[in-house]
Amino acid sequence: MVVMSTSDPTFSPKSSGMKVPARLKIRIGLVILPLCLWLYWGPFRSMKPLLLSAPRINWQPCVEDASFFCGYLDVPTDYDNPSAGTSRLRLTNYPAPCPQSERLGIILINYGGPGVPGSEASFDTAPRLSNLTGSRHDIISFDQRGLGRSTPKVNCFGSALKYEMFKTNTVFETTFSVPKDPFSAAGRAVLIEQQKEALALEEAQGALCAETLGAKALGFMSTTTTIYDMEEISKVMEGEDAPLNFYGGSYGTIVGAYLANMLPHKAGKIVIDGVVPGDAWSNEHYDSQVLLRLLLTDSEKTYQLYLSECFEAGPEHCPLTHMEDKSAKDIEKRVDDFIDRVEAQPLRGVKYSRPGYLTSGGVRSSIFTMLQMPEAWPRITQMLAAAINNSDPAPLMALIYRRYSDPSPTPQHDGYIETGQGELLRLAIFCGDALPYVEGEQLPTAESIVDDILVTMKTLPRFGATVHLMEQHGGCHLWPGTGAGPKRFTGPFNKTLTTPALIVANTHDPITPYDSAKLVKNTMGDSARLLVQDVAGHSYLAPTTSCAARVISNYFAKGVIPEDAETFCKREIGNYFTDTSALQANPKLVAGLLGLKDSR
Ligand SMILES: *[C@@H]1O[C@H](CO)[C@@H](O)[C@H](O)[C@H]1NC(C)=O
Ligand SMILES: *[C@@H]1O[C@H](CO)[C@@H](O)[C@H](O)[C@H]1NC(C)=O
Ligand SMILES: *[C@@H]1O[C@H](CO)[C@@H](O)[C@H](O)[C@H]1NC(C)=O
Repeated sequence: MVVMSTSDPTFSPKSSGMKVPARLKIRIGLVILPLCLWLYWGPFRSMKPLLLSAPRINWQPCVEDASFFCGYLDVPTDYDNPSAGTSRLRLTNYPAPCPQSERLGIILINYGGPGVPGSEASFDTAPRLSNLTGSRHDIISFDQRGLGRSTPKVNCFGSALKYEMFKTNTVFETTFSVPKDPFSAAGRAVLIEQQKEALALEEAQGALCAETLGAKALGFMSTTTTIYDMEEISKVMEGEDAPLNFYGGSYGTIVGAYLANMLPHKAGKIVIDGVVPGDAWSNEHYDSQVLLRLLLTDSEKTYQLYLSECFEAGPEHCPLTHMEDKSAKDIEKRVDDFIDRVEAQPLRGVKYSRPGYLTSGGVRSSIFTMLQMPEAWPRITQMLAAAINNSDPAPLMALIYRRYSDPSPTPQHDGYIETGQGELLRLAIFCGDALPYVEGEQLPTAESIVDDILVTMKTLPRFGATVHLMEQHGGCHLWPGTGAGPKRFTGPFNKTLTTPALIVANTHDPITPYDSAKLVKNTMGDSARLLVQDVAGHSYLAPTTSCAARVISNYFAKGVIPEDAETFCKREIGNYFTDTSALQANPKLVAGLLGLKDSR
């Protein structure tokens, strides 16, 4: 049973006026060697991949990594208006390492953020996803409009350095410093002061983006447009009616949900991993904290797991615990005391590429970042312990401020220069999706935002104020692209799918909890299955259990839909600090996130 979106009264898909040329079949006949084998054989790797050349994408081995192919696809800027010109998407292709006869098509990937340029992230993660999905699909990533090497590109400030100067030592960089009693009048005033600064910064960057890019271009950088771009990629690569297979993590689950519900008749195999609920994403004002409050549900639980693992590992493996500690509570108190101390007096940091100071907000956000990737627990714990020891806060500062700490980006091939305005890339997509405030509606004020944050902090005192500015999602009323694009998709999110989607949740994910996955599962009913694994970490940044890997691989490679509405995969890892062999799933990815390798 398939419900067609064309008859959906709440959302009319783009007109079908734009037709791409019929695809030249790229499936290969008997005469030519299967492509996958070519790629397996080292000597052939450097040969020009003629066979991959779909008509509109000129695939070439990537300069960054020759086991990938890179290409560009020009798409209509406005699918409803062919005269509006074209936009250019940058794609990467990690071909299926299997004989051509076993190849099952492509899987489109979204790595989240929003604002993570997919083609770049793919170099670290596509081989793992290829394996996880059963090695029978080409893994296709692309930079969404505004990001990476796609054009137009969000580059409001002109350079990474100018953006860094804009943010340095502001609340955008340090995030909220929470006073000792935030619920007192004096404490609330301290938060309001910081939120006022944030609003001023949001207004300034919004005005700058309006001047440099303009609302019109920004309006097309939304998930709604991304879905049409994915449909176009699929048409060009696999043919007009090919089903769209998809894997998305974190914000990528929004892309998956929009895809499934905007184009249910074209939805193929879809995995969404680390779920953000689409309904709250597109229909609630972010500043109200409704979405964030749900997303933070398991943040404290994950932190408590971290503390107990640290205690059990002992001082040799986890320097935050000391010989005399009686329980994890002693570590908790040690960190809390440190946060209080830094709140009272920020720490100077000089042995760092940009001397400065570490605030309590910085400490909280470094802990929150760490909780998302257990592979980094030993390393970041070391940095935290060193800062607590008052010997050297610099490594921790380098971790949290790293994105803005390189003032001299080097030109890369194609003349491409990374302009490092990651938070603006996030806003471009997020505000493109966000519910606009209507005429006469009360706009959020510093006071109203802080009061909503205080409600969150009642149940989540430790991290309740951390993420709101650490990841800029608010302030869309000050962003020029809000409401400026084509009609936003806003649901419903319960379309019937021929192939049920697979929803993945981790038991200890600090930012996309089980409750959120369960909510989406309930909305989707029989059109989804839930796969829960007992691991710590956020979405695909967590280690995958072999049990969950089997389910995901069978789903993509063999079309096996789990019978049960919910499948539970037990914990397989020993202690997160000592069982390091089990934590080698993402070494390149984690090194990249920690800034421990050269950026490409
Ligand atoms: C994925 O990698 C694991 C570990 O290297 C291996 O055991 C497994 O067979 C691979 N799966 C596929 C489908 O290639
Ligand atoms: C704490 O400081 C002492 C003395 O300066 C030093 O010996 C020790 O290694 C430090 N511990 C950590 C975790 O940095
Ligand atoms: C989908 O959700 C809408 C709005 O919540 C509801 O009216 C409709 O009955 C639902 N459809 C199905 C198939 O559950």
